[in-house]
Amino acid sequence: MRDPIQLPTHTVGKRLERLDARAKVLGTARYADDMVFPGLLHLKVVFSTQAHARLKAIRADAARAHPGVRAVLTASDCPGENLIPLVIPDLTLMASDRVRFVGDPVCAVVADTPEAAHDAARLVEVDYEPLPAVFDVLEALAPGAPVVAPPVAAPPGHGGARTGPNLFNSLDVKLGDVARGFEEADVVVEQEYRTPYQAHAYLETQGMTCVPEPDGVFAVYGSMQCPFYVHEAVARVLGLPRHRVKVVQVGTGGGFGGKEDVPSIIAGLAALGAWHTGRPVKLVLSRKEDFETMSKRHPALVRIKVGAKEDGTLTALEETVYLDGGAYATLSPVVLYRAVTHAPGPYRWPSVRITGYAVATNKVPCGAFRGFGTLQVIFALESILDEVAERLGLDPLDLRLKNAVRVGDRLGTNQELTESVGFLETLERAAQVSGYREKRERYRTWQEGTKRRNLGVGCLLYGVGLGAKGKFIDRTGAHVQVYPDGSCAVSIGNAEMGQGLRTVITQIAAEELALEFDKVQTFDGDTSRVPDSGPTVASRATVMAGNAVRDACGRIRAELLAEAGALLGLPPEQLELHGTTVRPRGDASRAVPMREVIARAAHARRPLTASGFRLPADTWWSDDAGQGKAYEVYTFATNICELEVDVETGETRVLALTAAHDIGRAINPTLAEGQIEGGALQGLGFALTEEVHMDQGVIKNPRFATYIIPTAMDAPELRAVIVEHPYSGGPYGAKGIGEPPIMGIAPAVTNGIKAATGARLFECPATPERVVSAMRSQDVRPEVVRPAGKVEVTM
Ligand code: MTE
Ligand code: MOS
Repeated sequence: MRDPIQLPTHTVGKRLERLDARAKVLGTARYADDMVFPGLLHLKVVFSTQAHARLKAIRADAARAHPGVRAVLTASDCPGENLIPLVIPDLTLMASDRVRFVGDPVCAVVADTPEAAHDAARLVEVDYEPLPAVFDVLEALAPGAPVVAPPVAAPPGHGGARTGPNLFNSLDVKLGDVARGFEEADVVVEQEYRTPYQAHAYLETQGMTCVPEPDGVFAVYGSMQCPFYVHEAVARVLGLPRHRVKVVQVGTGGGFGGKEDVPSIIAGLAALGAWHTGRPVKLVLSRKEDFETMSKRHPALVRIKVGAKEDGTLTALEETVYLDGGAYATLSPVVLYRAVTHAPGPYRWPSVRITGYAVATNKVPCGAFRGFGTLQVIFALESILDEVAERLGLDPLDLRLKNAVRVGDRLGTNQELTESVGFLETLERAAQVSGYREKRERYRTWQEGTKRRNLGVGCLLYGVGLGAKGKFIDRTGAHVQVYPDGSCAVSIGNAEMGQGLRTVITQIAAEELALEFDKVQTFDGDTSRVPDSGPTVASRATVMAGNAVRDACGRIRAELLAEAGALLGLPPEQLELHGTTVRPRGDASRAVPMREVIARAAHARRPLTASGFRLPADTWWSDDAGQGKAYEVYTFATNICELEVDVETGETRVLALTAAHDIGRAINPTLAEGQIEGGALQGLGFALTEEVHMDQGVIKNPRFATYIIPTAMDAPELRAVIVEHPYSGGPYGAKGIGEPPIMGIAPAVTNGIKAATGARLFECPATPERVVSAMRSQDVRPEVVRPAGKVEVTM
């Protein structure tokens, strides 16, 4: 049967208004802290003040005696397990015998008011016996280092071959013969790069309420990306079977990966409070607490060596990646997988050897952050490619064009790309829209006093979905219900957190059922209503939930077409959907409004409710071979940054940023552009200003006054370019766009700085201090022509 949905589509591909836009702009949207429940109590956490210490005693009598206090809880009060379920299950809900970082939860105080909880928490005395601590990845791996994490064999498939103290896991990528690759090279460049922490800076801090319901169910409401993770964590902490727990995701004010695993801790603590008091308990972190104790992007150290022939053909890549995982494994094993599989980038390599280590230190645990381990390796690769191009006298864009993967090529992981590879087109479109060639030429000699300008390129690919390491939790369901009045309710198990998912899903359901956009309502996730849909991460929701919704709608559509067939006296195969009507193929004169078909079908008691499901296309990975089909499909992108550097002060001003992304197909181009603009700005923060200052594991700047994120005022001209090379496995050809926009921005900036000033930054962010010190240490002395015509040399 031909697809009954005809192009042009009536909602998919359209620039429809985002469903949550008005509520968010008008301030009527509700978030975790807006939820009110009768008899609500408030929870305050006592966090460790020590980076590494034995927990000798918790003295809480004074806190218990404080007015309004209902409970003071420690690890031993968990009725179930004191553990958050993750790949390597080492993360405790509260520390029991040892604290591993400044911010480890030690004790929880539940009281009538937030103030009483706060005051009582300050009365809790904790006796620590300090232990030697380690804060650096190389020191942590050195013999005799303090043991933060005992040796663990990472589970099968997570690279458990090498084990040792402080090593969460280790993974390789191996292709061809690198020794030969370097022999064949005309130039070999070897360098070391570092990337810093990044804080998610979501608008809404972590927050959860747990409500004990009269029938014995514990209901959890809160801010999260992964309701099903929270579901499992709460059930295990409380020692309850899963059907006694229900998790509802409420409006989530940004996650960016920071609400993947961490909400399980917040919900676990609130649930523990609810269990012991029999009342609803809310835990919302203050901004400072959130900054100090919640996950961050992994800092990384990357040693990289690249060989290339005279004509620019790449011959070999050798790289070692160290991710600083912090005190608990949390998501580090899978972040490392994404890091090593993305390290070779969107290029053809005859030989590759990548080794990655996720390392334990006595610092805040690092986890998911938009890009998930890729920003680190992209910064190294895209920087060194510019160095290679410079040594060969090639333009950086030409080097990339020469080695760019196309359909039929293999990635550094040896995965063959069989479709939807729009990388070349992103390079070409970005170059064209940014005016790259002409400006590179013009800026070669451009200078105005202390100002220099130039452009930098940063490219990437991104595997959409959980890939081979996450495939056993990679499935998504949906539930669709059509009402007799021609309206429709959609429930999905993935979370709206600002990325526009609900709007995209609504568009897909409206398209599939020939309904008007405003006749479809997509509801927030509720674990009691939809199948386990896995996490809302890895830019997977459009493909996964979109396909699950199509599956459900397809079942309902079959009923509706049968009904319409009876009405029109034609077999369903001869019908098509057109706009909001059903009609005989190509025959507009006999079109019947879908609303009427639905009314008839409902009257005939046809089932107009269906569940849908999607499993990802198969992927695999061999730890031994260091190869595999790592992800089902990839998004490709090219960023070009045009900037101006003051060679005296080191200040960088980004003038324009062009980002071209091959996303398969834009379900809603406005929302896709919104993701590109927002992600690019977040990437500029990583590139230029965002820095966590840490001393002995203590974060010194846990506030927005000193941790500087870009605001709308800092946004340069942002040019989002959508490239569409459809993916046959995606809804209407769509891939994913959530994370790629933040990726590859930092090297586009530092490559631009190098081109403008001659100084290479081996670490970001590119603060004025770093730019000046790079110029000094690399002995770069740009000539400055003063307006008076006097020539001097800076520094
Ligand atoms: N966009 C907004 N506005 N807020 C967010 O929290 N999270 C990002 C990205 N875009 C995020 C966002 C991250 S980390 C991911 S994995 C994807 O959205 C998840 O959504 P998707 O699967 O619908 O792309
Ligand atoms: Mo996104 S870091 O995969 O939540």
